[in-house]
Amino acid sequence: MKKILFVASECVPFVKTGGLADVVGSLPKAFSKDDYDIRVMIPNYHAIKPEYRDKMETIYYFQMDNRIYVGVKKLEYDGITYYFIDNEQYFSGLVPYYDMFQDLERFAYFSKACLSSLPLIGFRPDIIHCHDWQASLVPVYLNTVFQGDQFFRGIRTIMTIHNLRFQGTWNVGHIKWVAGLPDECFTPGRLVSPYQDTSIPQSEWNCSMLRGGLVYSDYITTVSNTYSWEIQTPNFGDGLDDILKWRHERLWGIINGIDYVEWNPATDKKIGTNYSVKNFRTKRGANKKALQAELNLPQEENALMLGLVSRLTDQKGLDLVDGIMDRLCSLNVQLVVLGTGASNYENMFRYYAWKYPGKVSANICYSDALAHKIYSSADAFLVPSAFEPCGLTQLISLRYGAVPIVHETGGLKDTVKPYNPMNNTGTGFSFAGYSSDELLGRIQHALFVYNMEREHWDQMVERGMNEDWSWNNSSKIYMDLYSRM
Ligand code: ADP
Ligand code: GLC
Repeated sequence: MKKILFVASECVPFVKTGGLADVVGSLPKAFSKDDYDIRVMIPNYHAIKPEYRDKMETIYYFQMDNRIYVGVKKLEYDGITYYFIDNEQYFSGLVPYYDMFQDLERFAYFSKACLSSLPLIGFRPDIIHCHDWQASLVPVYLNTVFQGDQFFRGIRTIMTIHNLRFQGTWNVGHIKWVAGLPDECFTPGRLVSPYQDTSIPQSEWNCSMLRGGLVYSDYITTVSNTYSWEIQTPNFGDGLDDILKWRHERLWGIINGIDYVEWNPATDKKIGTNYSVKNFRTKRGANKKALQAELNLPQEENALMLGLVSRLTDQKGLDLVDGIMDRLCSLNVQLVVLGTGASNYENMFRYYAWKYPGKVSANICYSDALAHKIYSSADAFLVPSAFEPCGLTQLISLRYGAVPIVHETGGLKDTVKPYNPMNNTGTGFSFAGYSSDELLGRIQHALFVYNMEREHWDQMVERGMNEDWSWNNSSKIYMDLYSRM
């Protein structure tokens, strides 16, 4: 029996801001219980719903380093053991993340508390699987501060990059203070770039917690093959391409899956009319009609409904969408947006909804229920991201029969096969150059096929729905990795 601990800052169903939570919530369930004991540790945020918090049981509490409280709560849910690191001072906010300055201290504390609690709760994992920068100090602590303790010797670590843009970066002075790590960690090439200009005072050097995770972990993974190559280049490497190139033999790109129980149009309770690949041609349209009514859009059957469900940030290619809106709205389309994030993008979509009331519906909020309705109603789905480590929304769209229109980058490139009218193959539309005109060109092509070649369109939907983007395939690759370790 292999014992594995996931350490992360979010996990479905407890707390979610993006795809990280989906992955941490669904991947552990994909392993056989006979061979794997996979447990998950996240912070005990107040933002977690009372329905879960009320059921947690405190199994241990102690003072870490004789000065700071750590509580460990436990909940068995859906066959998985979850631990929640409890500390009111750090995790009592209404949202999981604050600003970077505070988050550095909160997640340094979290990473150390996770390790410190393991001997006390009696769980010694063979492998600690760390996700994103918030857990990236785990391999650093493990291989420095905790090495004196026999309990921790031989525990292996994996650092999974879900998004290199977020690294937990500040100067050495501050990170040293919040993390309490030994000086050796701050030599160039460890938590600091090997190219650091050492003529300036050390406390001012730029320091990245994620870099620490990449240096000190045994293996590194990221969430698609293409992204694993992209991040070894300066364009996508966000200042870490040196270490990723250097460790490329220990870097695996493993495409994400989605939870096929949660995301199943045949059984989904959050949508009005269930359907499957067998009957989507006759059933799916009812969802579009209902959503049009709900969002005050004209109930036009032939208007191509485009869905967009996203964090509204620079990553997501929303500048391209801005660049096409006037031309887009002259076509027979409807755009349904669901997202929150940067105020410039939130206001941009509010503005277009005001300017084109029958065409654009801007839902500037977080709503799981509405997300399900959009996936099951939209004819096509936009993911024009500038970069996308994996992307889950295009996978959900394929499963729900909304044809994805994507920029060929990262996981989008690895999961959407471009439509080829010559031999009627492909599962979506994609564009290589990052430009508004290319995006519009692909939408126009989609509109043409939708209106003029509906049978080809439906066959494309069918091919997408027939693909398997569950964890079936990728969990086997993780098993291979775990067994090598
Ligand atoms: P990222 O992790 O970069 O945000 P992903 O495509 O991997 O992108 O995952 C996004 C996840 O978050 C999907 O499950 C998507 O449905 C969900 N999501 C994003 N924004 C919202 C929102 N406003 N309301 C509901 N779900 C959302
Ligand atoms: C990140 C990425 C996204 C990926 C998700 C889950 O948030 O932006 O592309 O799908 O993590 O791995």
